[in-house]
Amino acid sequence: MATTAGQFWDKHVRDAGDRVNWWSSDACTAAYNEQVCGQAVPGNSRGCRIALAAAAGRPLGRGVSVGAGAGDKERALLLDGIVGEMRLWELSEARAAEARRRAKADGVGERLEARIGNAFVEETGSFDLVTWDHSLHHMPDIDQALAWSVERLNPGGWLMINDYFGPNRLQWRRDEVEHCNRVLDDIDRAHGTKLRRVRHSNILTRLRMRHRDPSEAPHSEKIADAIRRHLGAAVTPVGGLVMNILGGIVVPAFPDDHSAIAALVAADRAALAQGQWHFGFTLWQKP
Ligand SMILES: C[S@@+](CC[C@H](N)C(=O)[O-])C[C@H]1O[C@@H](n2cnc3c(N)ncnc32)[C@H](O)[C@@H]1O
Repeated sequence: MATTAGQFWDKHVRDAGDRVNWWSSDACTAAYNEQVCGQAVPGNSRGCRIALAAAAGRPLGRGVSVGAGAGDKERALLLDGIVGEMRLWELSEARAAEARRRAKADGVGERLEARIGNAFVEETGSFDLVTWDHSLHHMPDIDQALAWSVERLNPGGWLMINDYFGPNRLQWRRDEVEHCNRVLDDIDRAHGTKLRRVRHSNILTRLRMRHRDPSEAPHSEKIADAIRRHLGAAVTPVGGLVMNILGGIVVPAFPDDHSAIAALVAADRAALAQGQWHFGFTLWQKP
């Protein structure tokens, strides 16, 4: 399983500039960040950095991140002076190599170390920050990942979780698909487009997803409850249901200042107000 997941993510080393999905839209990331930190600033995960810096009130020494990919979020923590050093864990060799390359290019290569392997077995160090950014939902055992996170933290250290809490294996519920396709109907009617529709999940789509990337959201539906049990903390819902399901369809089709993007964001906020969300944020300090 670990090898297949690593190989899948090897193929997904993209340029940060691609307009591929919600994370490459300033309007979408600004809406996300506003829910996380109260500031509608653009930039993927920037709201998390703002919230962490404000809560910690001082630069943190060493941080660790599992499933860090090309390390963009971790590099930003270093560049913003929020953390002194970051250790990254990955299954994908290509993504870890890309993390090293980008860190070096940005002048923080000495402060970022990217390792390949099983962090839960091999990482026994202690840290001032454990961060999960859209990677906790890839873990095969959420309880193990959270217990490890708490154990790795120094007293007073911070655990930051910015992640996906939606349906397991990204198999959208029937009502989610129908809701999102109605949003697409409205956009098509307003702009004369013929955007592709979201397909319903079934046993085949579930199996295909499992085969494509065995690490994709095996237990995402259990994460909020596990956080409550391990940390005694609640997850702040930040939205994402509409942005997550439709981002890959709508964002590539329109420039960011187009009213269709504003409609996408508005639909996402309306879903959040109705208690429907995929993404959540938790910041917790170890006593
Ligand atoms: C959705 S990506 C997120 C990457 C990064 N955190 C980001 O936000 O750009 C999930 C990453 O988790 C990695 N991954 C999956 N299972 C893993 C595991 N057990 N240990 C370490 N990394 C893992 C994948 O290779 C992939 O790069």
